[in-house]
Amino acid sequence: MIGVLDHVGIAVRRLDEALARYRILGLAPEVIEDLSSEGVRLAFLPAGSVSLELLESTREGGPVARFLEGRGEGLHHVAFRTPDIRAELRRLEAEGFEPLDREPRPGARGRSVAFFHPKSAHGVLIELVHEPSSGAAPEPRTLK
Ligand code: CO
Repeated sequence: MIGVLDHVGIAVRRLDEALARYRILGLAPEVIEDLSSEGVRLAFLPAGSVSLELLESTREGGPVARFLEGRGEGLHHVAFRTPDIRAELRRLEAEGFEPLDREPRPGARGRSVAFFHPKSAHGVLIELVHEPSSGAAPEPRTLK
């Protein structure tokens, strides 16, 4: 099952500037991480039971760089928790969602993630995040 919102991803041109701006809203980063495999540097800012994930590109031509070129700053994705990411991948694919990942892969904060094409959900990139407390976590590959 999914349905619990984990975080909202926002693409930004400069993470430091965005962090200063969101600090005015009362939000402070809990985690800042360089996810070099994805070409992004990101920060998670808890906001109640969900977080904002601010994403800055660190690689020309990377996914966030391409997003910023095409659409500018703003909403990049929404992420839902699931206790069984593999089962949800298959279920959503069977329901017509177009997966961007065939298998869960390592994401931020050491969690397994999988993405679905924005056309699957009315223009919004969807991320599934494995809920780590739920036990049957797939082994993430080693993070660089
Ligand atoms: Co995310």
